[in-house]
Amino acid sequence: MEYLDTDPVRLSPDGKAVVYIDQRLLPHKTEHISVYKAEDMYNAIKTLAVRGAPCIGIFAAYCVYVISLYTADPALDSELESFCAYLDSSRPTAVNLSYALFEMKKVLSESRGLPAEIRRERLRRRAQEIHQSDIDSCERIAGFGLSLLKAGDGVITHCNAGALATSRLGTGLGPLLLAARKGIELHPYVDETRPLLQGARLTAFELKQAGLEPTLICDNMAAYVMSQGLVDAVMIGADRIAANGDTANKIGSSQLAIAAKYYGVPFYVLAPTSTVDKSCKTGRDIKIELREGDEIKKMFFEAPTAPEGVKCLNPAFDITDHTLITKIITENGIFSPKEL
Ligand code: MRU
Repeated sequence: MEYLDTDPVRLSPDGKAVVYIDQRLLPHKTEHISVYKAEDMYNAIKTLAVRGAPCIGIFAAYCVYVISLYTADPALDSELESFCAYLDSSRPTAVNLSYALFEMKKVLSESRGLPAEIRRERLRRRAQEIHQSDIDSCERIAGFGLSLLKAGDGVITHCNAGALATSRLGTGLGPLLLAARKGIELHPYVDETRPLLQGARLTAFELKQAGLEPTLICDNMAAYVMSQGLVDAVMIGADRIAANGDTANKIGSSQLAIAAKYYGVPFYVLAPTSTVDKSCKTGRDIKIELREGDEIKKMFFEAPTAPEGVKCLNPAFDITDHTLITKIITENGIFSPKEL
């Protein structure tokens, strides 16, 4: 329960490092790691020790502030500009990363000419605002999402869009975590989410910690569960939402939406407006991250599961077409994809 009340990323008590929960070690071990060097920050995002779209953004904002503490006054602009570009290159799909870095760069440009200490203080304040705004958005999203459910409903979720991926209540998982807080009974079905098992390792863990009783399924069992009438809604988070409502989220989200449409199950995307990227007209403008094939063949198994050298394709995200999405829920309310 402890980590649900704790932020997955935050400033260290002395304010000189960023502390994160290493999500690769969950659910068996909760380890807090402190970083203050650029390369360690980059690797934390790249390796998914810090993951989940809003969480990556909050982490990046704190990182910019911490790096400013170790940068000489005259070099603040140039060093932080290149640090932002470096961190932005760690993962391409979640817009929250570039959104947070853009916001931090704006603070820098707007404070040019002021004493360095004031500029650092403004960076710290902006990072904390980005964090607080996500906490508030998650609360509101959870409330709107829960209004779409009734006691006893079955809800499928994919990947992890809970406290670990955001702040506190999460997005896709918010209605479930809020229901638990209010004592409303729901039946969560959790896709294990191959290949990195964010569903099995993180979502099942969070839901159990919150006092719900999740049922874990393999990703290829979702259509079966729907065909049995066990599911009343699908609720997922998002990494980037295009202007037309097309949504990038963890690989497998799109096939879940296709199955939901076939079985007449409403498909809800829950995300803060900072995840909406109007510069992408459609999902075709969103860059999909490709990761190492060894994640498919070698992770979580005692021995490789496939012949040595077999070719793999490992896209980390896919695009759910807006026509498959029933509603998009943000901190501002419940919208049809075209109303965004
Ligand atoms: O590769 P990950 O684990 O960072 O992917 C995360 C997801 O796809 C989440 O569903 C998404 O970021 C929404 S989190 C609120």
